[in-house]
Amino acid sequence: MKILAIETSCDETAIAILETPTLKLLSNVVLSQIKIHKPFGGVVPNLAKREHQKNLVPILLRVLNNLTPLLRKERGGEKRLCLFSQERLQKILAREPELLKIFRKKILPLKAPNIDVIAVTNGPGLEPALWVGINFAKALSEIWKIPIIPVNHLEGHIYASWLNVKPRRFDIPKFPLLALIVSGGHTEIVLMKQNQNYKILGETRDDAAGEAFDKVAKMLGLGYPGGPLISKLAGSENSNAINFPRPMINSPDFDFSFSGLKTAVLYFLKDNPKANKTVVAAGFQQAVVDVLVAKTVKALKKYKIKSLIVGGGVAANKLLRKTLEEKIKKEFPNVSLFLSPISLTGDNAAMIASAAHFKFIKYGERVFRKAENIRAHGNLRLGKE
Ligand code: KG4
Ligand code: ZN
Repeated sequence: MKILAIETSCDETAIAILETPTLKLLSNVVLSQIKIHKPFGGVVPNLAKREHQKNLVPILLRVLNNLTPLLRKERGGEKRLCLFSQERLQKILAREPELLKIFRKKILPLKAPNIDVIAVTNGPGLEPALWVGINFAKALSEIWKIPIIPVNHLEGHIYASWLNVKPRRFDIPKFPLLALIVSGGHTEIVLMKQNQNYKILGETRDDAAGEAFDKVAKMLGLGYPGGPLISKLAGSENSNAINFPRPMINSPDFDFSFSGLKTAVLYFLKDNPKANKTVVAAGFQQAVVDVLVAKTVKALKKYKIKSLIVGGGVAANKLLRKTLEEKIKKEFPNVSLFLSPISLTGDNAAMIASAAHFKFIKYGERVFRKAENIRAHGNLRLGKE
């Protein structure tokens, strides 16, 4: 089976094709909009929507070309579509007129490719951005007559760990497992007793880990997005020069809170305007990593699990990766650690295809959804639709 996946939940426009059950990535393209949003210091939803509209078709063409370089054109593509379908297409993309225009010109003339299913992120994320991907998926489903599987973005970050990318590893995560999801919008520890079974053990009560990185980077005048910049400045060594608070590190639950830490950095900078930025960044990074690792270790001690998965943008953080690797090796030799491959920590569509595959494995065709029933859910929770 070949799954075409579409991801537009935030500021990356991404499309991938995954072959199953081999889990071979046939094509994977991610276009970042960082440059567009940078002047605003954060993602602007309507700009994201505009960029997704502009970029989806060119990216799809690239991805399909990777699949079959000789993608043949059929003449009179638009005429080929029955009147009914044409009307439906217009309706589906009514709120994305720019996308409709390019779609008609570039996609309609194409011969239907050898794709069996379309997977698309339906939340959580920015709703105007999510809708572009969803409506694009509906349009493709309409003209190619293939079914759609809606996928939760966070499931994507989890199932990225099954993908076979470099460096290759030949084992796969085993259940029961723990997943630590650390991204710009989420910080969650999830227990999975089996495929598709999610129990959120704990999550952030305010800011997500990535959000805290972004905000502290702003305070330090580093720019956007802050995570990679702080991470680069701070390096991957342990740092205890500044002892920032570790909120909730000893709380009896698995929840997190990063907003107090962010405020502590703010006050520190007010009191020490000449402080060395590298030292501040390193102290902040250390505090975040300490809390993330402490809560993960606590969950590993409580539950008997076989694998630990770490995914989401912040999973690219070198200190976090290193610390978890050392901890697992020393204290949990029977747990196998799956750090998302660096190339798949940030948002991408390969992970959405992978999650769709595992949904199909569990539920078969029951995961297909009628186009009219698929909608964007900005606050979608894991395990919900
Ligand atoms: O998963 P992701 O790409 O998008 C969301 O689903 O939110 O995560 C993006 C987040 C941003 O907050 C970014 O600053 C953070 O991940 N991030 C990092 C690093 N690379 C990206 N945070 C810490 N260290 C990094 N190396
Ligand atoms: Zn994400």
